[in-house]
Amino acid sequence: MRKIALFASGSGTNVENIMTYFEANSIVNQYLVFVNNPHAKVIEKAEKRNVPVYIFDKNALSNGDLAKKLTDFGPDLIVLAGFLWKFPEDLVKMYPNQIINIHPALLPKYGGKGMYGHFVHEAVLANKEQESGITIHYVNENYDEGAIILQAKTPIEKQYTAEDIAKAVQVLEYQHFPKVIEQLLVKTK
Ligand code: GAR
Repeated sequence: MRKIALFASGSGTNVENIMTYFEANSIVNQYLVFVNNPHAKVIEKAEKRNVPVYIFDKNALSNGDLAKKLTDFGPDLIVLAGFLWKFPEDLVKMYPNQIINIHPALLPKYGGKGMYGHFVHEAVLANKEQESGITIHYVNENYDEGAIILQAKTPIEKQYTAEDIAKAVQVLEYQHFPKVIEQLLVKTK
């Protein structure tokens, strides 16, 4: 039985999807949701499932509180599921190859600071890309630059808005993210 630390900043639909996936499969038995935004909808979603939530601010990053909370929990895997801050470098060093992120585009394009959520899809649309997709990758000390674990693509039809791209990308996220998590957990057993 394994433990996952889930980091999120917003609505948390990926967090919810991951938890639903593992309900039907007993690989994961414990979660702790880490949230940097006290108004994020992900908080309700976790609490509804009786999953503990740790809300933190920038101070907790610098004074060691976040690191302590994480170490005390002892995760097998740290999953950034819509987490919009840069992941702290000291934690990257503490958990080599144990932190993964999902990005709503085909990295290395459309990554880096400020490239998240709808900004990504708007940039993809403005550049008239014919496809977009998702990238699941390990987290290193630079934004969106760690080794890629999986990419999946979706075509962009001529009439698509940024919202349409977001929806198509979301389908891929829900389909692939829990499976990649499962594979990594099985591999590191
Ligand atoms: C997801 O689309 C995820 O790929 C993206 O935020 C969204 C969170 O949605 N992450 C990034 O943009 C990271 N740079 P959710 O809160 O509904 O899961």
